[in-house]
Amino acid sequence: MTYDFDAPVNRLGTDCEKWDDTEDMFGKAGLLPFWVADMDFKAAPEILDALHKRADEGVFGYHKFTERAREAAANWQRTRHGWDVSAKDVGGFTPGVIIGLISAVLEFTEPGDEIIIQTPVYPQFFNIVKLNNRIVAENHLIETEDGWRIDFEGFEKLITRQGSKVKMLIMCSPHNPVARVWRKDELLRLAEICARRGIIVLSDDIHQDIVYSDAKHMPIGSVAPEIEPFLVTFVAPSKTFNMAGLYASAWIARDAKMRSRMRKASKALHAHSVSAVGMVGLETAYEKCAPWCDQLVTYLEKSRAFVENFLKERTPRIKLRHPEGTYVFWLDFRDYGLGNKELQRVLVEDAGVALNAGINFGAEGDGFARLNIGCPKSQLEEGLTRIESAFTKR
Ligand SMILES: Cc1ncc(COP(=O)(O)O)c(C=O)c1O
Repeated sequence: MTYDFDAPVNRLGTDCEKWDDTEDMFGKAGLLPFWVADMDFKAAPEILDALHKRADEGVFGYHKFTERAREAAANWQRTRHGWDVSAKDVGGFTPGVIIGLISAVLEFTEPGDEIIIQTPVYPQFFNIVKLNNRIVAENHLIETEDGWRIDFEGFEKLITRQGSKVKMLIMCSPHNPVARVWRKDELLRLAEICARRGIIVLSDDIHQDIVYSDAKHMPIGSVAPEIEPFLVTFVAPSKTFNMAGLYASAWIARDAKMRSRMRKASKALHAHSVSAVGMVGLETAYEKCAPWCDQLVTYLEKSRAFVENFLKERTPRIKLRHPEGTYVFWLDFRDYGLGNKELQRVLVEDAGVALNAGINFGAEGDGFARLNIGCPKSQLEEGLTRIESAFTKR
């Protein structure tokens, strides 16, 4: 079956955040939204059918965790990502990845402990740490001619410096917003340091399935089994299948002790249940929708080429390091010398587009903005053309 990703989907007036909150968030009506990380594509017909069938049952009581869901999630990791996990390693399900991460932060660290995040990074990572009275230890990614890299020396220094209270790393793999897919040697090196120092690793693999043909996602546990006693990995069909609003995610821990601590932690927050429709969506996505995912990635890869060519030919002052995965691209406007406020003003007022302000991803995001390419090509083209007309005047 061939799926149509070019079909426009009208989300305005559906109470979705990306379209219906844009005016409130950016202060202007009529903006074309490229911010919130969901996509302007309908979910796979297989998922829609399953949800229709579930709705036709007419009762929405509590749903149990099915062995089927565990097996589907494990099988997805085995077949798509070459990670040898079994259904029992899928330790639990949570309503979204973030609440799973919070459970782990509360279980494995104490107030006042430091947690490393590698910035610029998804803004919730700051909140997860700070709002739970832990301390952010920022390890800044390094920009090189070959793209964004992990600062391993900086990483080790944070852990070994005098008075260090680093207990945990929250990884983003692949990395939102720089769109890096971490290579095996990078994962091995991180795992080696963390295992040696007993640092707990939370690997947020929510973007794991949107990876382009010149990269390969590897869950850190699949390349470095020695990290397993310290590792919890968070996965979800939410980004891949555009079903984030169904709030259905899973966490994986191959180590029995880690599993039992995580179970306790998510129970303590009552974060160990998923809605009935979420479970049906998760099972269906992982069991039946691999072809949809393949076609989506092919479509997005063409969009990536389109964005890269567009920028190179028409707005060469806007830079983009080659994205290897995710549908969120980290546009570099620094050549224009605008501060964050002015950059946002030009994007909103002059271009009429809504992109996430780079500064929200860490201080080094000043001069950047995050573009979500998860939409029909015509919409992306319209957005880039608007950006071009606003910035070529400068
Ligand atoms: C890296 C990362 N983690 C987590 C989330 C959100 O997770 P959830 O909505 O499942 O809690 C996002 C959403 O953009 C993300 O980019």
